[in-house]
Amino acid sequence: MARITIIDGHPDPDRARFIHALAYAYAAGAEDAIHEVRRIDVATLDFPILRSANEWRETDPAKAIHDAQIDIRWADHLVILFPLWLGDLPALLKAFLEQVMRPGFAIDETVSDRNAKLLCGRPARVAVTMGMPAPFYRFYYRAHSLKSWARNLLGFTGIAPVRHSIIGDAEASDGERQHWLSLISQFGRDAR
Ligand SMILES: Cc1cc2nc3c(=O)[nH]c(=O)nc-3n(C[C@H](O)[C@H](O)[C@H](O)COP(=O)(O)O)c2cc1C
Repeated sequence: MARITIIDGHPDPDRARFIHALAYAYAAGAEDAIHEVRRIDVATLDFPILRSANEWRETDPAKAIHDAQIDIRWADHLVILFPLWLGDLPALLKAFLEQVMRPGFAIDETVSDRNAKLLCGRPARVAVTMGMPAPFYRFYYRAHSLKSWARNLLGFTGIAPVRHSIIGDAEASDGERQHWLSLISQFGRDAR
């Protein structure tokens, strides 16, 4: 049995958003297979934008961020879902990660590189939806913004390996959506 934390990174709390349906499908699949699931809905969290390195290092985060840190540390598998906005992750999700991935929680700034990553041992799946067809993003744009998850956004904390799901034509056919809902639900059952 795995402990899975799902980070739903869509900035819009409207339940009609496809990302929320995908997050629900992953959770439902995982719970069917008796995995334990916690959810973080970034759209509903109350936290400020980080404005200085001093704040990052020296101050306590808002309660919502502290609670999210507990759920991330608890997990042995992470799932992050978001829509592609202007070729990258939405600003609210980036703001959330800047708040969460602080020294003392995600990294230890007092030790050498190898020991500095405090969230090692947690694989992750990053699922991104987009208006363009998936092959266009994968081959023409070379999935550029996804690369930074493994290298930077998660990599510097030790979260690895990072698997990707590229969900194109997200505004298109119901058939395509149904295909992805079943696949994501299967990933939930397999905790991967
Ligand atoms: C502000 C904004 C920027 C967007 N930028 C892109 C983009 O750069 N490339 C793309 O393929 N789709 C883009 N889209 C389309 C979204 O990725 C798409 O609507 C979303 O993945 C659908 O999922 P949802 O129903 O959960 O919002 C953008 C949509 C918005 C609202």
